[in-house]
Amino acid sequence: MTLYRLSLVGFGNVGQAFARLLLAKKDQLKSRYNIEFQVNGIFTARHGRAIDLEGLNLEAVLDAAAKGESVEHFSRMPAPAGGPEFIAACQADVLFENSPVNHLTGQPAIEHIRTALLNSMHAVTANKGPLAHAYRDLTALANRQGKRFLFESTVMDGAPIFSLFRQPLPALELIGFTGILNSCTNYILGLLESGLDFDEAVRKAQSIGIAETDPTADIDGWDAAIKVAILATVLMDAPLTPQEIDRQGIRQVSPQEIAAAAREGMRWKLVCSARRENSLVLGKVAPRMVAPDSPFFSINGTSSYIQFETDVLPGLGIVETSPGPETTAYGLLADMINAFAI
Ligand SMILES: NC(=O)c1ccc[n+]([C@@H]2O[C@H](COP(=O)([O-])OP(=O)(O)OC[C@H]3O[C@@H](n4cnc5c(N)ncnc54)[C@H](OP(=O)(O)O)[C@@H]3O)[C@@H](O)[C@H]2O)c1
Repeated sequence: MTLYRLSLVGFGNVGQAFARLLLAKKDQLKSRYNIEFQVNGIFTARHGRAIDLEGLNLEAVLDAAAKGESVEHFSRMPAPAGGPEFIAACQADVLFENSPVNHLTGQPAIEHIRTALLNSMHAVTANKGPLAHAYRDLTALANRQGKRFLFESTVMDGAPIFSLFRQPLPALELIGFTGILNSCTNYILGLLESGLDFDEAVRKAQSIGIAETDPTADIDGWDAAIKVAILATVLMDAPLTPQEIDRQGIRQVSPQEIAAAAREGMRWKLVCSARRENSLVLGKVAPRMVAPDSPFFSINGTSSYIQFETDVLPGLGIVETSPGPETTAYGLLADMINAFAI
């Protein structure tokens, strides 16, 4: 049995869902994988920081977090206020970086992950920023350190996208992919079909937590573009930034166009794609009308879908239904087990 020490930077929806999943899977981790764990540190922006090198009481911390309380009083030593200093002080084996995404620079998450790797920790994240802005550097650093930098949850939450191309598909060349990768816009397009106008649909999506207070990143296609950029960078070895993706959001899709599509038995979807054209990989996010024979047609609500085109398998698709912090947490757990397996 090996005891692994974990540290969690970011303890919001995803961090807490991950902590709950760890507790739920505790016996299985032990019996199937010989993994025991303790959480040495939890870092938040406004809800305090806690370090206990003998392991925090995770149930009690989760209870406090659920009540919106600070985690500060669980700390058995002064917890540094700076992320990198905090990470070094935790003396963990793995860092889980789940702070909010910074689309422009990827910081401070990049620095958090760099610090973890330099301190001989594996780094696991659901945060897209470090992938979009520092994938190659962080992967090279992880390799030099003999550690893993894993990020399954950054695209389609817990669905196996990156791990699929690490092992099960040897000698396969990825030519391109198409997909519905942003839950918020897919949900809003569905509400528009049901007759709501754009502002009503956005408000409804916000009221049930699918759209953020500032929904621009989803509606204008930035979240989708960052995912296309990450997939192209990691899976096609084509380092694209979100700014290099030909991007259009869903603002221009009018109720009239939605109705016209419905009359023809079609639907509007925000389609993400990338394709290798000679030596270039071109990425795109744009609304597209799809017919009932398209696999996109039946992707409803917050579900997502990706179809890969490869040199051998012409079409290989993955659907994820009902995503949320719990499915994202599963991607983190799978990464953790995979990191320990080397
Ligand atoms: N929600 C999902 O299902 C989902 C799916 C895929 C990927 N992700 C990604 O996962 C990450 C976390 O998402 P979430 O929904 O858990 O967000 P969240 O609920 O807003 O939680 C973010 C956490 O990070 C902390 N934080 C804020 N600024 C920080 C900083 N500068 N340094 C360190 N910690 C900081 C926050 O502290 P306070 O508690 O004090 O605010 C909070 O604990 C994001 O990058 C998101 O894009 C989320």
